Amino acid sequence: MTYPVTTGDFSAASGPDPLYERSAVIDLDAIRHNVRRLADAASPAKVMAVVKADAYGHGAVPVARAALEAGASWLGVAHVSEALALRAAGIDAPLLAWLHTAESNFAAAVAAGVDIGCSGWELDRIVAAARDQERPARIHLKVDTGLGRNGATLDAWDQLLGEAMEYQDQGLLRVVGIFSHLSVADEPERPETDEQLAAFREVLAVAEDAGVDPEVRHLANTPATLSRPDTHFDMVRVGLGIYGLSPFEGQTSAELGLRPAMTLRTLVSQCKQVPDGQGVSYGLRYRTSGPSTLALIPLGYADGVPRIATGGPVRVAGRTYPVVGRIAMDQMVIDLGNIGPAGADLFGAEAVLFGSGDDGGPTADDWAVAAGTNNYEIVTRISPRVPRRVINESPAVGPGSPAGDAPGVRIPAAGQATP
Ligand SMILES: Cc1ncc(COP(=O)(O)O)c(C=O)c1O
Repeated sequence: MTYPVTTGDFSAASGPDPLYERSAVIDLDAIRHNVRRLADAASPAKVMAVVKADAYGHGAVPVARAALEAGASWLGVAHVSEALALRAAGIDAPLLAWLHTAESNFAAAVAAGVDIGCSGWELDRIVAAARDQERPARIHLKVDTGLGRNGATLDAWDQLLGEAMEYQDQGLLRVVGIFSHLSVADEPERPETDEQLAAFREVLAVAEDAGVDPEVRHLANTPATLSRPDTHFDMVRVGLGIYGLSPFEGQTSAELGLRPAMTLRTLVSQCKQVPDGQGVSYGLRYRTSGPSTLALIPLGYADGVPRIATGGPVRVAGRTYPVVGRIAMDQMVIDLGNIGPAGADLFGAEAVLFGSGDDGGPTADDWAVAAGTNNYEIVTRISPRVPRRVINESPAVGPGSPAGDAPGVRIPAAGQATP
């Protein structure tokens, strides 16, 4: 899916700009920086940029382009439909989709040159699609080395390899890759990564004995890319890191040399003085403890801010305030304290929920703590109602260029202000 980012006439010199009102600003310079950082860590292994779920909420097409510019050579998504959307936008890089159902469109994937992850049951259907298209399918065999999700079990591996090789000999497919996914790489002290690595090595040895010679063997996600060079093989599949977020508890993005790419911001939409004891939001779970000024922040759970995250930080005019009372569908409240009439000046001020954290401002990690979740979920769940404002697009894909004219991508004009 591509987020709707054009809902008004932004070229007009005057008039309201919905992107200024409320937006998730996506900094492609940060994406490129992070990809370069991860490519350094992975070298000589290649980098697959994981852009599933609309690039973890950042926008799959612009992020994919930025990642490829910065040195990623593959793209990865979960669904065939996500892969097809990238192809429709003119992206022709090697591209793998790995999570399927009986209704997945393998024929379209084969026709579009999309690599297909195969755990077992998909094989016959992929081959049928290849016959229909009169074109060999490109597959990556997936093995479950311990995560317990998709992938062939170790017991089923020999049989899957054998069947895939038969089809390969008949010219119906090519085994391009063999891969698996780690379960606890974000907790480097745990032993299961070693166990999964050992199982993966064994599976590769069996494949080699069977004469399979894949182009890419891949296992590592972001945390393994940063902490376990022995898991890199021919390619790493990195998602979270390219968005500039840390997979490790207790280690910040900055400590890992990463830059968060998404800033979620809006404008204070009301400021009002209230008396002592004023209740705030549904359930009146918060009351002011003296005369105070309440500021209304027009983002809520319909925008993807977790309802449970009362206490999450909002930065206004250089200070960070916790959200008080319940987060509602469209709005939340911060208590500015007893600042008297001065509060009125903050009407229309920028309110940042999370961003780079550079200026000591709040981060997606802070919201993850407030919501009892992880930073993956905080950025990914920002909803389509929040327009994405893409900044620092490379000049090669600016307006007027073939890539810049791709559907669903809004390229800001050079010098356009970023709220
Ligand atoms: C199969 C697979 N590989 C790689 C990734 C990327 O993981 P990360 O975002 O931790 O880099 C994911 C994401 O969940 C995944 O499902």
